Amino acid sequence: FPIHRPAELDWSFAGPLGRYDKGQLQRGLKVYKEVCSACHSLRLVSFRNLEDLGYSAEQVRALAAEYEVTDGPNADGEMFTRAALPSDHFPSPYPNDEAASAANNGAAPPDLSLMAKARTVERGFPRFVFDVFTQYAEGGPDYIHALLTGYEETPPEGMEVAEGTHYNPYFIAGKSLAMPQPISADQVTYEDGSPQTIDQYSRDVSAFLMWAAEPHLDERKMIGFRVIIFLMLFIGLLWMTKRKVWAGVA
Ligand code: HEM
Repeated sequence: FPIHRPAELDWSFAGPLGRYDKGQLQRGLKVYKEVCSACHSLRLVSFRNLEDLGYSAEQVRALAAEYEVTDGPNADGEMFTRAALPSDHFPSPYPNDEAASAANNGAAPPDLSLMAKARTVERGFPRFVFDVFTQYAEGGPDYIHALLTGYEETPPEGMEVAEGTHYNPYFIAGKSLAMPQPISADQVTYEDGSPQTIDQYSRDVSAFLMWAAEPHLDERKMIGFRVIIFLMLFIGLLWMTKRKVWAGVA
């Protein structure tokens, strides 16, 4: 039974001129917050990073306060929990890996901070040349979107899937995984009128996870452009200098 290849979607951040769509990232954050964070941490992203998505410091403070983190030890040597601050990272919903595995049929939900890069899949030629330039940026979100939209009720004839796992032909490491279909239509309310479908939720949360893994993608592309323009001017200047210096030589 072959693993299916994820569809290659048109991401706003694709290609050398692509940029993150902040509206989409905000929707993706909402999906992560209301759905995925029940099982997955995002421990390399701190709340204050969300200012990049267009939130004010006040909004970030309020959002952080919705989470509880463990801190300590205090003066008595004890650990304690408190509301998260903007400098804290998105915590795991489980106290430790054992508890995470026990709650999910033996497979701990992985941290999602770098998932969009860890699961990068190659995209086919002719996009390939482009993708080298953009560091395969779109392959990871393609995979996450395909995984979230790719669940099938029943496995094909003759396929046995382990008990407690769910058939998904896009799962990269086998035919079924411990994560059940996590989202359903209308589960998350969008305020900007975007469709509340599994497909749209999956696109938005995949874009958000791409931002989590590569928050400086936009700036890096911009710097790349400036460097190329500078190099072109510089080569022109060198060429003219060379002609001038050698002009008198017969
Ligand atoms: C694995 C994404 C919600 C439980 C994964 C993987 C991704 C992912 C990308 C890794 C798949 C791989 O290894 O290739 C998401 C997203 C969610 C979400 C974007 C929200 C929309 C949830 C929820 C639960 C959950 C709500 C708990 C009920 C798990 C588990 C695994 C997993 C247990 C490990 C599966 C295995 O290795 O068999 N998830 N997830 N996820 N997720 Fe989620």
